[in-house]
Amino acid sequence: MRLLLCLFLVAAFHLPAQDAPPALTEYMGRQIAMTMHWKGAEWLMRRVRDREEATTLMRKELRVKPGMVVCDMGCGNGYHTLPLAEMVGATGKVYAVDVQPEMIQMLKANMESKGVTNIVPINSLYHDPKLPPNTCDMILMVDVYHEFSHPVQMLAGMRAALKPDGLLVLAEYRAEDESVPIKPEHKMSKAQINKEMNANGFKLVREFDGLPWQHLMFFGKADAK
Ligand SMILES: C[S@@+](CC[C@H](N)C(=O)[O-])C[C@H]1O[C@@H](n2cnc3c(N)ncnc32)[C@H](O)[C@@H]1O
Repeated sequence: MRLLLCLFLVAAFHLPAQDAPPALTEYMGRQIAMTMHWKGAEWLMRRVRDREEATTLMRKELRVKPGMVVCDMGCGNGYHTLPLAEMVGATGKVYAVDVQPEMIQMLKANMESKGVTNIVPINSLYHDPKLPPNTCDMILMVDVYHEFSHPVQMLAGMRAALKPDGLLVLAEYRAEDESVPIKPEHKMSKAQINKEMNANGFKLVREFDGLPWQHLMFFGKADAK
C-alpha cells in the first residue's frame, strides 16, 4: 500500500500542469532553443552590450512615445524594461513579463533601487503571457521568441493583448550571418520569422536593418486596416 502511494506521488509530481499543452522542441522546421537560465542574468546587463548590440539605437527605432502601454515580453532582469519605463513616462505603463520567478525578482529589485513605479511585473506561464486583453500598443521581444516552447499559444495570447493597431516587435540574432557570435538555435532568419508570424495572424509592417547582430521586425495584426 505504502509502495503504491509512493508510486502515485512520483507519477503525479511528473505530470504536466493540468491544461498545459505539450512543449515543442521544433516549430515549422526550426529547432526551439532552451530557455536562458536566470543564473546567467548578469550577462544580460553586461557593460559592453550597448556596443555589441546597439541597444540604445534599437530602443530609439521602436518609436515609443509617452503615454504608450508597452510590454517587454521575456523581460529577464529588466535590461530593456527600465529604459522603456522612462520612454513611456508617468502617463504610460510597461508590462514586464517572464516565466522565471527569479528573473521577476531581479527586475523588482532593479525597479526598487531606481524608484520606478510604472512597471507591472507579471510572472507568466510558458503557454500563457497572462496579459490583459486589448491593452498593449506594442509587445517587444528581444532575444526571446526563439525560446518559446509554445509559440502558437504565446502568439495567440499576445495577439489578444494587442490593441487593433498594436505592434509585435521581434529582435532576433541573424541566422543568415555567420559572423554573429551566437549559437545557431538562438538565431532566426527573416524568412523563418515571416513564415511563423504569417501562420499566426501577423503581417510585416516595418523593419530596421541597422543593428549589428539582430533583425528588428515589426508585425501588425494581419486583419488590421
Ligand atoms: C535571452 S533572455 C532575454 C531577456 C531580455 N529580453 C533581454 O534582452 O535582456 C530570454 C528571456 O525570455 C524568457 N522566456 C522564455 N520563454 C518565455 C515565455 N514563454 N514567456 C515569457 N518569457 C519567456 C526567459 O525566462 C528569459 O528571461
